[in-house]
Amino acid sequence: MDAKLRITSMSGSLRVQSRNTALLNAAIAVAPTTLEIEVCSIADVPLYSQDIQNAGIPDAVLTLADKIKTADGLLIATPEYNFSIPGVLKNTIDWLTRVPEPPFSQKPTALMGTSVGRLGTINAQTHLRHSLGALNASIMNQPMAIIGNSGELFDDGEHGAVLHDDATKEYLTGFMQAVAVWVRRFVDS
Ligand code: FNR
Repeated sequence: MDAKLRITSMSGSLRVQSRNTALLNAAIAVAPTTLEIEVCSIADVPLYSQDIQNAGIPDAVLTLADKIKTADGLLIATPEYNFSIPGVLKNTIDWLTRVPEPPFSQKPTALMGTSVGRLGTINAQTHLRHSLGALNASIMNQPMAIIGNSGELFDDGEHGAVLHDDATKEYLTGFMQAVAVWVRRFVDS
């Protein structure tokens, strides 16, 4: 049997009822058992300032960097804000490039996202590809997880939003199988 692949994941939304965090959780629920996926919050990452960096890189940044560095792959769910990625996610990526050993280079990475409109975070994911590509991340091109019409797919829940749409769950099942194949290619090479 193939050894487990360890994936670090994060959501670019901080709100409790985030549909992108729900999308990430739904993807984890249907992922192949060969994937061990940890969800890491970016809520404790401070706003970037070189003054803070010079005084000492915050623990929240160092911990996240280490989790990505030591994982076999990275999975990011991002909302779209004004045709791009949320500032909190870009801020986190910026911080992660200021640690002694930035974790993105050649890291097998998959992106996903959901939004209210029909374009399903395509603009945000394109921008995320731009930044992570410049950092030499190995981003899976296909399949994409561009999930539109989120208002019809998710319900608010007691501890956060929940995906209820079966067709989306089925799509995520195939998507996560592809993620497993993508990450395995790098681990085996
Ligand atoms: C949005 N939203 C949004 N949606 C979209 O498809 N394109 C966009 O450019 C924007 N812009 C935007 C800006 C800001 C500041 C907010 C707060 C929202 C809507 C957004 O996709 C929706 O609120 C998502 O549900 C947010 O993701 P979470 O928090 O549910 O994961």
